[in-house]
Amino acid sequence: MMTRHVFLIGMPGSGKSSLGRKVSSSLRVPYIDTDNLITDTLGCSVGEIFERYGENAFRQAETNLLIELSRATPSLISTGGGMVMRPGNRELMQNEGYIILVDRPLEQILSDIKLDRRPMLAKKGLGEVERLYYERIDTYRSAADYVLDNSNGYYAGVSGLERIMKSLFVL
Ligand code: S3P
Repeated sequence: MMTRHVFLIGMPGSGKSSLGRKVSSSLRVPYIDTDNLITDTLGCSVGEIFERYGENAFRQAETNLLIELSRATPSLISTGGGMVMRPGNRELMQNEGYIILVDRPLEQILSDIKLDRRPMLAKKGLGEVERLYYERIDTYRSAADYVLDNSNGYYAGVSGLERIMKSLFVL
């Protein structure tokens, strides 16, 4: 059983959602994807939220969601890449659970990131992914309780995440 939340943080394209989804099902723990929860609640895509209401509204929805999550069943939670960048969010996450950085080299992210699913990045292209990486990587590292090396492919990432989860909880 999980006794605290586990937050997966990291760049878009680092593997947070695919690893989180897979490991939640293999270890039978509850799973939440913050982007999906926000888009389901608001009834439109991340791109539409950015376009209609602006990035700040999306960031505020992320913060509101984190506050709600403090009352939810402990879960494995994939977060959007910008979530942990707000200091207040970082504090909430640190108080409510463990933070795992899904750490994937920039070159690998650039080689297969799906920009069409990420309208915020699609307009600006791969250069924007690179810029965000260098802007964020130090913050990601310093916020993380654990770093999951996701440079050796999907299956290595899955077993690495399972290992960390089993070291934290009786599962
Ligand atoms: C964002 C990442 C996205 C999504 C939004 C903003 C970011 O999530 O939350 O487009 O600022 O890095 P993923 O990290 O799942 O792509």
